[in-house]
Amino acid sequence: VNRYYIATDYGCKAMCDTLFHHCQAATLVPGLGAYGHVQDAAVAVTAGRISWVGAAAQLPGDLRRAARQTLNLGGAWLVPGLIDCHSHLVFAGSRALEFEQRAAGASYAQIALAGGGILRTVAATRDASEQALLATATVPARALCSEGVTTLEIKSGYGLDLETECRQLQVAKALEVPLGVHIERTYLGAHSLPPEYRERRNDYVEMICARVIPRIATERLATAVDVFCETIGFTLAETERVFSAARGAGLAVKVHAEQLSNLGASALAARFGALSADHLEYIDQSGIDAMAAAGTVAVLLPLPFYYLREKQLPPVPALRAARVPMAVASDFNPGTAPIASLRMAMNMACVHFGLTAEEALSGATSVAARALGLQADRGQIAVGQRADLCVWPVDHPRDIVASVGVPVPSAVFVDGSPRRES
Ligand code: NIG
Ligand code: FE
Repeated sequence: VNRYYIATDYGCKAMCDTLFHHCQAATLVPGLGAYGHVQDAAVAVTAGRISWVGAAAQLPGDLRRAARQTLNLGGAWLVPGLIDCHSHLVFAGSRALEFEQRAAGASYAQIALAGGGILRTVAATRDASEQALLATATVPARALCSEGVTTLEIKSGYGLDLETECRQLQVAKALEVPLGVHIERTYLGAHSLPPEYRERRNDYVEMICARVIPRIATERLATAVDVFCETIGFTLAETERVFSAARGAGLAVKVHAEQLSNLGASALAARFGALSADHLEYIDQSGIDAMAAAGTVAVLLPLPFYYLREKQLPPVPALRAARVPMAVASDFNPGTAPIASLRMAMNMACVHFGLTAEEALSGATSVAARALGLQADRGQIAVGQRADLCVWPVDHPRDIVASVGVPVPSAVFVDGSPRRES
């Protein structure tokens, strides 16, 4: 018996804009078995949201008759749209030179300490117009969305000064219409210490807390604040100050944690009720326990792990044992993951990190939604959720994870309508 045969009550008259049928549904609803599979499913969409889901045989007759449009999917799988919950997609310039420098033996940290790395991208981004940033960002964004991504999180962090950070966040929002997907924005001013503050770390953190965060909150330029807590980033104490300011301004927090070393950022983030702690190669058991207790999502990022030729694996078995929810994201960025493929990240999360295909798919749908604080709104095929859906011409949802590049979704719906790019 399927526990979520809930017809939405729209008064006495059933309403349905689109009825999907002759499909297999991977609902990703926990407790429904592998992938939340509903066999021979029907899914009704009303006003952009899912109004009914279950076995087609149980579909109420009035809902079927009310459907304005009926789509026979011919046995294909209906899956929630993919959610990329961690990217740095708006920037200018190339870091391919550093790719060559690393091949010749330099490390990511060495390059950063020598003034390259993030600061190289900051210089180029400060010089770039809004139009130029938008044109550049559109290319990887389109690549991600062609894979079935319907929600994309984009961080700032390559401007560092108030004006350029705001420009990055405005460009991120401006991608929404041409791409036909949802964009979530995160302020990452604490990404690197800008050159003009080199001798004044404290003043920079103060500027983030006292000037930028209030503006981000008032102008709704982002819903969350992120910090790169690392020896080459910001200290634990600085991270705590930024988190306090963010929470005080009503913004969510998340963190780049334990990527290259263990500073305890994940436990700190958990203490602040962070949505997620991301990377986590060097997290220890106390960090895992703190995240489990707080319900903070672990966002695994296999693309930078691969790109930097890291050796330390995130402790997936321990995260799993502690029931820390695991998401998977692209971390698309110019320095450590210039790879515009969430599918590649999902595949690598299995091959390198040992996730199951189901964990990788839920990590890029239902758990990714949770990493954005949007689990009540999207990421599953369930009544009340946004009808952000992909139709996959596959025999089983594991096929979506097992290969990259193929198969491609045969249709993508955002808010119940076919995704429209312009
Ligand atoms: O997630 N670690 C910090 N931020 C990015 C890299 C940024 C860059 O190198 O440009 C990351 O890996
Ligand atoms: Fe990142």
